[in-house]
Amino acid sequence: MIQNVYVSSHPLLEHKLSILRDERTGTREFREVLKEVTMLLGYEATRDLPTEDIEVKTPVATCTCKKLSGRKLVLVPILRAGIGMVDGFLQLLPSAKVGHIGLSRNEETLEPIEYYAKVPNELDKRNVIVVDPMLATGGSAVAALTKLKERGAKNLRLVCLVAAPAGVEAVQKAHPEVPIYLAALDEKLNEKGYIVPGLGDAGDRIFGTL
Ligand code: PRP
Ligand code: URA
Repeated sequence: MIQNVYVSSHPLLEHKLSILRDERTGTREFREVLKEVTMLLGYEATRDLPTEDIEVKTPVATCTCKKLSGRKLVLVPILRAGIGMVDGFLQLLPSAKVGHIGLSRNEETLEPIEYYAKVPNELDKRNVIVVDPMLATGGSAVAALTKLKERGAKNLRLVCLVAAPAGVEAVQKAHPEVPIYLAALDEKLNEKGYIVPGLGDAGDRIFGTL
C-alpha cells in the first residue's frame, strides 16, 4: 500500500469488479454492479467519519450509541462517469449534499477541460468525497480537487474504482493530504491514456454511448 492510498481487497468487491471489467457486461448490468461496488467502496472510504454519542432508549433499556456528527457531507461526482457512483453513495449517506464538476479529457492532449461546476455552500465545514470510476493520468481528479479547494473545501477524499500508477502519483503530488480509496490499482496507461487492463471508457459503459 502506497501511503494514503487504500486498495480494497474485499472478496465481494473483487468479484464485482471482474464483472465490470468484462467487455461482455452490458449497460444495464454495468450500472447495477457499479452501484453495488460503490456501496462496498463507500463503506471503506467512510470508515473514519466522525461520530458523537447519543442516548437511545431501546424497548429494554437506555444506552449510549453513536451518530454521525458535523455538517452534512458533500458528494462530488466528476461528470460524466462519476454520476454512476452517486446512487451507491446515497444509499449509504442519504442526506448527503451533491455537487457536480464537469470535466472532459481532450482526447489528444489528455488535459481536462472544465465545462461545469456547482457545489454546495460552506464546503470548508464539510467532509467532501470526490467520486469518479477512473483515475488515469490523474488530470481530472487533480483539477476537481483544486477547484474544490478554491471553493473552500479543506477535508477531501477521493474514491475511484480503478487507477493507474500515474494517476495516483499525480494526485499525491498535487494534493498529498487527500486520501485515495480504490477497488484496484492497475498496471499502466496505454498510448491513448486508457488504463490497462482497466474496464474501458467508464462513461460510455455507464451511459451506453459506445
Ligand atoms: C474519464 C473518467 C475520468 C477521466 C480520467 O472521463 O471518468 O473523469 O476520464 O482520466 P484522467 O485521470 O486522465 O483525467 P472522460 O474525460 O472520458 O469524460 P466522461 O466521464 O464524460 O466520459
Ligand atoms: N477514462 C476512462 O473512462 N477509462 C480509462 O481507462 C481512462 C480514462
